Amino acid sequence: MTVLDLAHFTDVHLGPLPQARLGELMGKRALGFLSWHHRRHRLHTRGVLDCLVDDLQADPPDHVAITGDLVNIALPSEFELAARWLESLGPAEWVSLVPGNHDAYAGRHLQRSWSRWHAWMRGDEPDSSGRFPFVRRLHDRLALIGLSSAVPSPVGQATGTVGPAQLEALDGVLEGLGREGVCRILLLHHPPLGSMIRRRRALRDEAGLRKVIARRGAELVLSGHEHFFLFGGMPGKDAPVPVFVGPSASLAHGPLRTGGYLRHAIDLSGNAPRFTVQLRHCEPGTGAIAVAQTARVECTGSGLELAPADWPKGRGSATESFPIRSH
Ligand SMILES: [Fe+2]
Repeated sequence: MTVLDLAHFTDVHLGPLPQARLGELMGKRALGFLSWHHRRHRLHTRGVLDCLVDDLQADPPDHVAITGDLVNIALPSEFELAARWLESLGPAEWVSLVPGNHDAYAGRHLQRSWSRWHAWMRGDEPDSSGRFPFVRRLHDRLALIGLSSAVPSPVGQATGTVGPAQLEALDGVLEGLGREGVCRILLLHHPPLGSMIRRRRALRDEAGLRKVIARRGAELVLSGHEHFFLFGGMPGKDAPVPVFVGPSASLAHGPLRTGGYLRHAIDLSGNAPRFTVQLRHCEPGTGAIAVAQTARVECTGSGLELAPADWPKGRGSATESFPIRSH
């Protein structure tokens, strides 16, 4: 039995916010700066994030996917802070990153800002750094496909756009990998979950993305943006495609909506991959890790649902260790 253990972190919102020069605080950034110091610094704490990272490193998965919002208002110094955090997490070939709307909070010089993250934001092709979609083949039968929905949006909005060039390239990528029978996992900050997402936070070209996925198929979509756990689905080519939204990895407020991350056990031994998800929280107060839920994705007559399940892979389990490719 071949099982891949994929961790999913999202909406890290690294703090504390570094000092900013007055000239850096123009427009939307100024409001974001005030919002951080008024409210958000209490919502996103390093203590919660460190608790989750400790768990990740003590019980390392085969790979880590991060679906954006590493920073808050896209100050140049935040990108450097986030790069150092990524370095502390583990080797770059162990971590795949796509950006979120906060990583594009201030629209100028995005490519230059993101260049510090290229080691984590790249595919297998040598010239793929910072280019989307990128493809990381982790196994003969599994690939991660990184999309960017991170674009600047007006004050009061947190929308995203993938854009026609990425959609066109994605069509070819999904078609090619699908023909090979590869499990295709899409990483994308904005969840393509239609009316489940508020309009001012939506993926603007979600219809276009859905069209490509309905035509070519995909096996799983991992997203963030909403800061709490959500599960949904969308039509695929031969079967519905599960969509998981991970909780923010630094959220510290309220007993029900604390920070957490997801672990996906992906069983590749059958004809079609089977997915089991585990939601791990950092308990407020104690700082201990708690498993909130372990469930298996099941296809029913009317769509997809989560059914309670045991975690199929753990320390000392009989499952075959996952043969990660090195690049
Ligand atoms: Fe976020």
